Amino acid sequence: MATNFGETEAYLAEQRLAHEASQILGSVGLSMEELGKKKKVLDLGAGTCQVERAARAFGLRNVVSAGMHFPKEAKAAGLDYVEMDAAQPWKFEKSSFDLIVSRKGPLFHTRTKDEAVFMLEEALRTLSPEGELRLNPLRFGFIKNEMFAKYPRFADLEGQVRHMRSLHDQKEWEKYSLEANLETASRLRSLGYDFSTALPENTSDPIENRGYLVFKK
Ligand SMILES: C[S@@+](CC[C@H](N)C(=O)[O-])C[C@H]1O[C@@H](n2cnc3c(N)ncnc32)[C@H](O)[C@@H]1O
Repeated sequence: MATNFGETEAYLAEQRLAHEASQILGSVGLSMEELGKKKKVLDLGAGTCQVERAARAFGLRNVVSAGMHFPKEAKAAGLDYVEMDAAQPWKFEKSSFDLIVSRKGPLFHTRTKDEAVFMLEEALRTLSPEGELRLNPLRFGFIKNEMFAKYPRFADLEGQVRHMRSLHDQKEWEKYSLEANLETASRLRSLGYDFSTALPENTSDPIENRGYLVFKK
């Protein structure tokens, strides 16, 4: 029996992409169907643009990907990609998006509080009045940095490759990470931000990456 391996490979790649995109969207409490109801969506810190690529396969053209470097995997796909440093003024007009999603994006990588505040203000400026900003995970980089200074052990553990950690070290790292999540929410509130948090249960995300923040205009 003849088998067309090319077609099978393409089918599997499409399935894998759809799965990865649904994990990214799921991490902020959304699905591809919900994405389809939005006018314009920004995937901030898009990595290899799985969300935009899967959206296109789904017939959607409403996603813009953004990140520091246009990934070579995505260049050939003719995507709507914006190279940007979110710590610098964003080139988008105000009210450009009704949804901004970000999993492990710029806010997760912030080094200072001022950088995080700048990015949040830019995100809120570029959201339309009914827009939402959804961020996963719950901890921001600058909070981790502050905690590293307070708990050098956290910095040591963070520097280890996850699958090389002993079970004991992994548990200890999770404890610090969860504390960083709580600290992030509490700091954002003390900075005057209004947002909600959600902690989905039916997810395969590791405990420290479970949960997201939702900011509305
Ligand atoms: C760990 S990857 C996450 C990719 C994808 N969101 C995912 O969940 O698989 C981090 C992404 O954030 C982007 N990023 C980090 N810091 C950034 C910054 N200051 N401005 C814009 N993008 C940034 C990187 O370019 C990259 O696309």
